[in-house]
Amino acid sequence: MVSENGQVQFPEGFVWGAATASYQIEGAVAEGGRRPSIWDTFAHTPGKVFGGDTGDVADDHYHRYDQDVALLADLGATHYRFSLAWPRLQPDGRGPLNPAGADFYERLVDALLAKGVQPWVTLYHWDLPQALEDAGGWPAREVASRFAEYAGLAYERLRDRVVHWTTLNEPWCAAYLGYADGTHAPGRTEPVAAVRAAHHLLLGHGLALQAMRAHGARGADGTQRSFGITLNLYPVDPLTERDDDRDAARRIDGLFNRQFLGPVLRGRYPADLLDDLALVTEAEHVHDGDEQTIAEPVDFLGINYYSRMVVRAGGGQRHQPGTASVWVASNDVEFVSRDLPRTEMGWEVDAQGLYDVLSRVQREYGPLPLYVTENGAAYADEVAADGTVADPLRVAYLDSHFRTAHRAIADGIDLRGYFVWTLIDNFEWAWGFSKRFGLVYVDYPTQRRIPKQSARWFSEVTRRNGLLSPG
Ligand code: FCB
Repeated sequence: MVSENGQVQFPEGFVWGAATASYQIEGAVAEGGRRPSIWDTFAHTPGKVFGGDTGDVADDHYHRYDQDVALLADLGATHYRFSLAWPRLQPDGRGPLNPAGADFYERLVDALLAKGVQPWVTLYHWDLPQALEDAGGWPAREVASRFAEYAGLAYERLRDRVVHWTTLNEPWCAAYLGYADGTHAPGRTEPVAAVRAAHHLLLGHGLALQAMRAHGARGADGTQRSFGITLNLYPVDPLTERDDDRDAARRIDGLFNRQFLGPVLRGRYPADLLDDLALVTEAEHVHDGDEQTIAEPVDFLGINYYSRMVVRAGGGQRHQPGTASVWVASNDVEFVSRDLPRTEMGWEVDAQGLYDVLSRVQREYGPLPLYVTENGAAYADEVAADGTVADPLRVAYLDSHFRTAHRAIADGIDLRGYFVWTLIDNFEWAWGFSKRFGLVYVDYPTQRRIPKQSARWFSEVTRRNGLLSPG
């Protein structure tokens, strides 16, 4: 796969895309019958989001989607990963589809298809209808059934035009940032609720797959639909081979990675994780048959990769009641920083970690088709006097990660595609608009889109289906 001129060539048919999420780009939060999600409520709560930013307008993508689809076509993207806003489609989280919401996504999908870009839908990227949070949120089992109902309705409406369906984006974040440390919506700090939320998200995933497949797994043209989930996976390494450091790594890996990989791909929670969690809660919320439902087969696994964790044992108690830690029942662990370049998020740049994640999943849970559904970097981009945006650090970041992905494929890993996070600068959750991840710069006051240097570079990659040799 490395040709004579040194070009790194990806397999034919490799998926190249960019990703976004509804609340981060759409704006128009009160239009077309949309009602509030937990992120609307959270962002409007003082002190929750940096600078008091909200997604009220965001990138105004709801009105400018045509322009954004044209940007994707200019990038040469084969696919576009975006999420449906549940509160646009089912404003109160139950009942029939809201026609105006469904029309919007139909228009978007048609615009993509007209430009030859395949839609890749995520059903849940964190914007739970507020009405369902008011009824208990993800810690309430009922929400899993509501999610399946919504998935079935959305699928029924769009399945003729959309091949790839992802249930959840990063359930770890939705559960633990949302309900344990409260840095994401809905901002609750209840460890037991977080553990339950994680389970009900996974249960919702399994039920949603069943609901979609019940409508038939083929489109009108007879082609097969493809179903999966996106998990954020990081390697978790112990700082030393000491038993206590290794045990710290085991616990964090259990909470972050295996809690989700286990039930989805093996049909059971890891026993050691359940033992750890027993410090705060027994697993009585896991009913007979749930793990089987969660293990409903997936056609692919989406992986979001950003960095690696290195941990050591902390000196304290494993569980300190009253602390709002994401590391439920393991908050005595120390995270060790390494002498590596960092992005604007403070995340260490570690391309090899992507290889380690992909090979681990294939070895321990595969083989199954894998896609990198997010990878990218925030940098402090600025518009120069000549109107251009130079982002050489982002180009270098993506180049090193793409090369790593290529090496993984050459070593036999079944990686089929790669989505850059993100198409356009957008609302970066608790960081508001202060962090820019886009291939395309957004000047928020005017909503002008300016493709960055990385956008031009990426369009070369998609055109060649590969990379030129460095130097
Ligand atoms: C991921 C999210 C995505 C974006 C990136 C930077 O955790 O899925 O929405 O915020 O991080």
